[in-house]
Amino acid sequence: MFSSLTGVVLLVLLGLASASSGPTFQRCPADFQLVRRGQTISASEAQYVEQKREKVLPGAFKTYLHSVKGTGVQLPKYVEQILESKTQLPTVGISTSGGGYRAAIFGAGVLNALDARNSSAVKKGTGGLLQAATHLAGLSGGSWLVTSLAQANFPTIQHLVFGDGNPSDFAGWIPSFDIWTESTDPAEQAIFVQEVLQEIAVKAKHFPVSVGDAWGRALARHFTNGTTLATLFANTSHGAGILFSGFVKLPIFASHEHPFPIIPLNIASKHINGTIFPGGNGIPLNSPMFEVNLFEMGCYDDVLAAHTPLKYLGTTNHSLCVTGFDEAMFLSGTSSNLWNELNTTVETLAANTANFSVLVNETYPQSPALRLDTSNYPNPFHGIAPETFSDSGETILSLVDGGEDGQVTPLQPMLVEDRKIDVIIAIDGVADTPDNFAAGASLIATQERMQIFPRGLRAFPAVPTTLAGFAAANLTSRPTFFGCTPAHSRYETHAAPGPLLVYIANGAPPRDGSPPLTNTSTFQSVYTDAEMQGMLTQTFAAATQGAVIGNALEDKEWGACLACAVVDRARARQGMKRSGVCETCFTRYCWEG
Ligand SMILES: *[C@@H]1O[C@H](CO)[C@@H](O)[C@H](O)[C@H]1NC(C)=O
Ligand SMILES: *[C@@H]1O[C@H](CO)[C@@H](O)[C@H](O)[C@H]1NC(C)=O
Ligand SMILES: *[C@@H]1O[C@H](CO)[C@@H](O)[C@H](O)[C@H]1NC(C)=O
Ligand SMILES: *[C@@H]1O[C@H](CO)[C@@H](O)[C@H](O)[C@H]1NC(C)=O
Ligand SMILES: *[C@@H]1O[C@H](CO)[C@@H](O)[C@H](O)[C@H]1NC(C)=O
Ligand SMILES: *[C@@H]1O[C@H](CO)[C@@H](O)[C@H](O)[C@H]1NC(C)=O
Ligand SMILES: *[C@@H]1O[C@H](CO)[C@@H](O)[C@H](O)[C@H]1NC(C)=O
Ligand SMILES: *[C@@H]1O[C@H](CO)[C@@H](O)[C@H](O)[C@H]1NC(C)=O
Ligand SMILES: *[C@@H]1O[C@H](CO)[C@@H](O)[C@H](O)[C@H]1NC(C)=O
Ligand SMILES: *[C@@H]1O[C@H](CO)[C@@H](O)[C@H](O)[C@H]1NC(C)=O
Repeated sequence: MFSSLTGVVLLVLLGLASASSGPTFQRCPADFQLVRRGQTISASEAQYVEQKREKVLPGAFKTYLHSVKGTGVQLPKYVEQILESKTQLPTVGISTSGGGYRAAIFGAGVLNALDARNSSAVKKGTGGLLQAATHLAGLSGGSWLVTSLAQANFPTIQHLVFGDGNPSDFAGWIPSFDIWTESTDPAEQAIFVQEVLQEIAVKAKHFPVSVGDAWGRALARHFTNGTTLATLFANTSHGAGILFSGFVKLPIFASHEHPFPIIPLNIASKHINGTIFPGGNGIPLNSPMFEVNLFEMGCYDDVLAAHTPLKYLGTTNHSLCVTGFDEAMFLSGTSSNLWNELNTTVETLAANTANFSVLVNETYPQSPALRLDTSNYPNPFHGIAPETFSDSGETILSLVDGGEDGQVTPLQPMLVEDRKIDVIIAIDGVADTPDNFAAGASLIATQERMQIFPRGLRAFPAVPTTLAGFAAANLTSRPTFFGCTPAHSRYETHAAPGPLLVYIANGAPPRDGSPPLTNTSTFQSVYTDAEMQGMLTQTFAAATQGAVIGNALEDKEWGACLACAVVDRARARQGMKRSGVCETCFTRYCWEG
C-alpha cells in the first residue's frame, strides 16, 4: 500500500499545476522592521486591547454582571461597582490546554459555559465572561479550538463544532473523518494524499517543507472554512490562504470583540546547553518558548526576547519580504506537531500506510540535513542573542507542539507583564492519568519553569508541587482558585502581583454517576456528533456546577464565586476588603498551600 500510494502520487505530480496558494516574495515596505526586541508587547497588541477595553468591555461586563445577579445570590457592593465601572474593569485571560480533540472539545465546552449567547450558561451565572475576556490562548488541540473559532468569526460553540447547516458557512469540525486517514477506501485516501501534497507545491519551491505542512493542510479540512462533508475529497483550496495575520480583518476583530488570540509553540533545539530541565515530552523546560499571536511570532523569555511581524513570517532580511507564510492551520499544526516524539524505527515506518514525512520528502526532494518531523520556519532571529539563544546560529527554526515541554495548559503567555492579566481562566483537558483525566501536571510544569525564566514575567501563583498534592486536596474534581494571596515576582519588584488562577480541570467523572465521556484518548481522532455532544454537555456541567456542598452536587453560589475571583485583583487595587459571599467563596475555592 505504501509504495503503491507513492507511485500514484508521483504520477499525479508530473502533471502538477501551480494553481494552489502559498507564500510570495515582494520588496519590503520602507518602514519594515524584521525583529522587535524586548519583553514588552507590540504597539498593535496594546492598541487592540485598549480598543477592546474602551468599546467592548463596559458592555460585556455589564451583561456578565446581569447574568451573575440573575442567580439571586447577594453580591458584595464592590463586585457590582467594579464590573459597572469604566476604569476599574479587570483583565481576564482564558488559557485552554492541549490534548487532541478531547482537549479541543473540553475547551469548547467550558467556553460555551462562559458564553453570553448560551441561555443555560446565563442561567448559571457564568455566561458572559467569554465576551469580557481580553486574551485567549490555546495550544495543540486547544489551538484548533482557538483558530477555528477566530477564523469562523466567533460562532456559538454549537455552530463551531457542528456547523450551522448553511453550506456557505464554516461547516464544523467534521470529526467523523480521521484527520490523516480521511477515507478507508484506498483510492479515495490516495486522492486526499495527492491533494495535500499538491497544496504545498508553491511553498516547496522556496521553503523547506515537512510533515508539518501536510499536517496543516489535513487539519485545515476540519478547522478552517472551505470544506464541507460534500467537498471533503474535492480538489478545492480547503482553506489554503486563510492567514492568521488576516484574522484582524474579520468583523469580530474589526469590532475588537474577539479576545486577542495566542498560540504557543516549542522549539526542538539541536543544541541544549548546560543543565537540562526535563519537561513533559522531550523538550526541556529550559528551552525558549515561542508564541504566535494576532500580530507577531516571537519569544518573551529573557534569553531571546524577540518578535517578528506575523504578516511577514518567512522573511529573514529587510530587502525581500515574504507574505502568506502564516497560514492559520500551518501555525496551529505547528502547535500540535508531535511527530518528533514518535518512535521512528524502520518497523514503525513500515507499519505506517502513508508516512507524510517520507511522502513530502519524496515529492519535494530536500537537503538530508533538514528535519522532516518538525515544522520549519526560516529563522528571523538569526544572529540575535547568540550568548543566550542556542538556535541563534541556525537558519531554520524547528518548531513543534507547544506543550512538549510539559506546559500543556498555556499559562505563561498570561504572565507577560505588559498584558496586565488579573485573572486567568485555566482550562485543563490534559490526559495526566491512565484514565485520560487531568491531574495538574501542566500547572506543576509552569511553576517549575517560572523558577528558570522568571525575569520580565509576573509571578505565577503557588500550586502543589506534586500530582499527589493536587489529588489529596481534590483540586481537579471541582474548580479551584490559586493565588488568592497575591504572589509577587522576586525580580520585577515594581510589577503588579501575578494573576489569580481559576482552574477548571477535566479531572473526574460526572458527579451524578453517569458514565464519563470527556476522558477519551488524546489519539482518538474520530468522533461521532453524538459523542461530541455528550462531551460538550458533561463539560458544561463541570464548568457550571462548582463544588459539592453537603449533599448537593452543585454549588448554587458558583456563578457569584467566579465573579468574586474575576474582580479580586481590581478589588485589591481599590484597597477594599473581601466581604459577603466573596469571603465564603474564597474559603471554599482557594488553595493556599
Ligand atoms: C487539482 O487541481 C489542479 C489544478 O487546479 C490540478 O493540477 C491537479 O492535478 C488536481 N489534483 C487532483 C488530485 O485531481
Ligand atoms: C469563515 O466563514 C464565516 C461564516 O461561517 C465567515 O463569517 C468568516 O468571515 C469566514 N472566515 C474567513 C477567514 O474567510
Ligand atoms: C533576503 O532573503 C532572501 C530569501 O528570503 C534572499 O533570497 C536574499 O538574497 C536576501 N537578501 C539579502 C540582501 O540578504
Ligand atoms: C518502537 O517500535 C518498535 C516496533 O513496533 C518496537 O519494537 C519498539 O519497542 C518501539 N520503541 C519504543 C521506544 O517505543
Ligand atoms: C515517517 O518517517 C520519518 C523518517 O523518515 C520518521 O521520522 C517519522 O516519525 C515517520 N512518521 C510517522 C508518522 O510515522
Ligand atoms: C529526504 O530526501 C533526500 C533526497 O532528496 C534524502 O537524501 C534524505 O535522506 C531524505 N530524508 C529522509 C529523512 O528521508
Ligand atoms: C552555554 O552555557 C555556557 C555556560 O553556562 C554559557 O557561557 C553560554 O553563553 C551558553 N550559550 C548558549 C548559546 O546558551
Ligand atoms: C474514562 O474513565 C473511566 C472511569 O475512570 C474509565 O473506566 C475509562 O476507561 C476511561 N476511558 C478512557 C478512554 O480512558
Ligand atoms: C475529596 O473528595 C472525597 C470524595 O469526594 C472526599 O471524601 C474527601 O473528603 C475530599 N477531600 C478534601 C480534602 O476535600
Ligand atoms: C448551551 O449549551 C448547552 C450545553 O452544551 C447546549 O446543549 C445548548 O445547545 C447551548 N445553547 C446554545 C444556544 O448554544
